[in-house]
Order: sequence, then structure tokens, then C-alpha cells
Amino acid sequence: MELRNQIEAIAIEAGKIMLSADSIQAATDEKSGHANFVTKYDKKVQEFLFAALARVLPEASFVGEEEGAESFREEYRKGYAFVIDPIDGTTNFIKAYRPSVTSIGLLLDGKPFIGVVYNPYQGIMYSAERGKGSYRNGIRIHSSEEPLARSIFSMGTAPYYEELTARSFKIAEKYLHRTIDMRRSGTAAWDLCLLATGITGLYYELKLGLWDFTAGAVIAEEAGCVLTDIDGNPLTYDGPSSVLAVSSGVARENYLPEE
Ligand code: IPD
Repeated sequence: MELRNQIEAIAIEAGKIMLSADSIQAATDEKSGHANFVTKYDKKVQEFLFAALARVLPEASFVGEEEGAESFREEYRKGYAFVIDPIDGTTNFIKAYRPSVTSIGLLLDGKPFIGVVYNPYQGIMYSAERGKGSYRNGIRIHSSEEPLARSIFSMGTAPYYEELTARSFKIAEKYLHRTIDMRRSGTAAWDLCLLATGITGLYYELKLGLWDFTAGAVIAEEAGCVLTDIDGNPLTYDGPSSVLAVSSGVARENYLPEE
């Protein structure tokens, strides 16, 4: 079985743990930052993923949200490194506001190589491998060719960083006037998949962990999207970053936020 398919199979198993969850509120703790929660299921899914993925690729290193790897280590730049968000959309998970997804990115020599994002609530699997295209439940996907003015956009509110709220919403106001409307899904990985499928035309968030965007970035880029930080600089995949991602159609315009 190809590596990407093996990772997909593991993501489906992780999804079963998410679907089995009950009494989530009671199993929730608060992390540092504003309203930043972790449940016992985030930890359980991460433990499962680390063990299962290590069997597939024993030489890989691991970056996981729930081990708190805020700083990037040099070892992630060499060979394989899994970058994992066991449950992206933890607040959605706690509140039963769907979806929440498992997000598994794989870096090869520090560059995005494979991305798998699985939504167990709807049984939707997005996956991509560099140079081989992007797929939704096995069917090739492409981003939208429509211009910004005929697109909806999504944004993440960078909820854990209150110092970014004013700038986040200033940019949202600008894009609201340049597009049809705005959406907020509650998971960055899913936002990137919606962009990759041609549902939205632009997505941005002012600060994300590497685990929030690595898998979705491979899926979006392989579907024709262009990803940078919010100022238009290339993403470096070496720690937290802002992300501005656009469809192939929007990429032909001057789409940077006017601030
Ligand atoms: C969060 C989600 C959310 C985004 C936050 C992320 P988490 O991830 O992706 O959409 O706005 O910035 O941290 O904490 O649910 O894994």
C-alpha cells in the first residue's frame, strides 16, 4: 500500500476514537492563551497516531499539538517529520459544532510532502502528495477559477491570541467588501480543504500552529491554490505562522489585504 493510503487508513481509525467520545465537557482542560482547550480525546487520538504512524515510518520524527512542541527543532528539517493535530477544531468538538478533523501532515526535508485531513462525522477524506494531486474521497479536486469578487472567503479568528483580534477583523471587513460573504468553520485544516475543493476562494488566519496548517497546505497547493503568510511571503514550515491561502482563480489578482 502507498504511504499516503496507509496514513489515510490510520486517520480513519483516529476518527473512530473521535466518534466514540462522550461527556466531552467533563474531560476538558484549559491550556495557555485565551479559551484554548484540550480534551482527553485530543490526547488519546494523538497517542494513537504517534504509535500507529511510527509503525509505518519508524525513522520519522513527530511534531504534535498536544505535546506542546511550540518551537521548531532542527531535526524536523531532515528526513521525515509528521506534523499532527489530533483534533483540529477542538472547540467545535467540545460544543458539537461540526466538523472537527484529524490532520496529519508529513514534511520531507522540511518541505510539505503528504497531507491527510479526515472528517469522521461525514466520512470525508482529503489527501494529497506533492506532485501527485489532491483528492477528496479518492476523486481529484481543483480549486476555483472564480475571481475574488465572485467568491466567499473564510477566516480563522486566531482565538488564542487576543492581541491579534483587531487586525483579524479589520482584514475581514476589507475582504467582506471585496467578496460575496464570509464563513468561519472552526478548523483551519478544514478551511484549507474547502479552498482546495473550490468552495471558497480565500482563507486567512493571523497565527496558526504548524500542526493546524501543514496537512491542509499540501492538499490546497496540490489543488492549485497559492499559500503565503499574510504579507505574501513564502511559508517556511518551521513554527507558528500567519497563513493567507487563495484559489488558482484569485491568485491571478492582487488579493493581498489592504490594511
Ligand atoms: C484551531 C482551529 C481554529 C483556528 C485556531 C486553531 P485547534 O485549532 O484550527 O479554526 O482558528 O487558530 O488553533 O486548537 O482546534 O486544534
